[in-house]
Amino acid sequence: MDDPRARAGFGTRAIAAASTPPEVRQAATSVPIYQAAAFAAEDSEELADILAHRTPGFAYARIENPTADALGRAYAEIAGGEAGFAFGSGMGAIHAALVSLCSAGDRVVATRAVYGSTRALLTGILARLGVETVFVDPTDLDAVRAALVPRTRVLYLETISNPTLVVGDLPALSALAHAAGATVVVDNTFASPWVCRPLELGADLVVESATKWLGGHSDVVAGVVAGSAAAIAAVRSVATDTGGIVAPFSAFLVLRGIQTLHVRMAAHAERALRLARLLEGRPEVIRVGYPGLPSHPQAEVAARILHTGGGMLTAELASRAQAAAFIDALTIPPRTASLGSVHTLAVHPPSHTHRQYDAEGLARAGIPEGLVRISVGLEDPADLERDLLAALAAGTAA
Ligand SMILES: Cc1ncc(COP(=O)(O)O)c(C=O)c1O
Repeated sequence: MDDPRARAGFGTRAIAAASTPPEVRQAATSVPIYQAAAFAAEDSEELADILAHRTPGFAYARIENPTADALGRAYAEIAGGEAGFAFGSGMGAIHAALVSLCSAGDRVVATRAVYGSTRALLTGILARLGVETVFVDPTDLDAVRAALVPRTRVLYLETISNPTLVVGDLPALSALAHAAGATVVVDNTFASPWVCRPLELGADLVVESATKWLGGHSDVVAGVVAGSAAAIAAVRSVATDTGGIVAPFSAFLVLRGIQTLHVRMAAHAERALRLARLLEGRPEVIRVGYPGLPSHPQAEVAARILHTGGGMLTAELASRAQAAAFIDALTIPPRTASLGSVHTLAVHPPSHTHRQYDAEGLARAGIPEGLVRISVGLEDPADLERDLLAALAAGTAA
């Protein structure tokens, strides 16, 4: 018989009642957000086994969380890897990938126009810890071969480089790196796995800012890595001790984005090609960069390794002032420094995304002072065309 005096107090019952997950036998059609910092094991021994990775399972959400795990697996699937892991940002993913591979005394050979924070990570944080980086032009295979000295641990590339849209020959570059005993890490952020899957072209690890095309709506910051099970185990171990795992709600948003990635990317690419062709015909534009145009310097490589030209293009204007006036005259894109969104986004890399580069660094990386980088959104193409043409007229009048 129930003795009211033996019953637990209000607080105990409230805590137990409000933290008991429902029993759900039917599979949800989306991955639930497991908003929990900790998971309870059957007994102390099982907890010890899960924490030591002897038994699969969840114990503490800095180490692993079911929603984060689902994102890691989904990314591995679409990237063509055995395993994957999801981070709180693209930089978190890049940091963990590099730290999982490099030790003091190692060399990284990196493409010369990497994303600004990646450059700062390589030349600042990793350099201080004794990892040297040399930057090369990835289209100059002899220069890459020469840079791959025996202590080279990593060849670091971007599928489509930010912001110069250089497309390296991933199979040839991977073969060079492997011949020199180096591991190939590719940042696939500008492409997305719908446009390119570097793991199928020789890369060992692929990293991506999921903030961009994977999430797709400018509402989440996250990052992902995929590769072999052994490589991801090493990345995961860095994440365990540095705490970069993605938050459950962020993982949920990226999972949601991945389900429409193929449809969105097809529409982004179609619009980007249309705008690239339009800008290429304009006298105000010195050069248009788009991997899907025959005029792209690596058009042959792009046709071979990319599914389409993707959603990113560049327009080189005559000066910084013209680039700034052009961006300020645009009415559709919000003034913000991201990419890979339903919104069209235009930035001036020398002042925004690549502000870490000085004038000499910009010149060496092949980034012109008047470069504008455009991430083409999903607005109606005719509206975008009108907006770009009007802004070009206003920009060049400046
Ligand atoms: C090519 C590239 N890699 C990595 C990152 C970093 O991603 P996140 O902002 O998610 O850390 C960015 C951000 O713009 C990027 O453009």
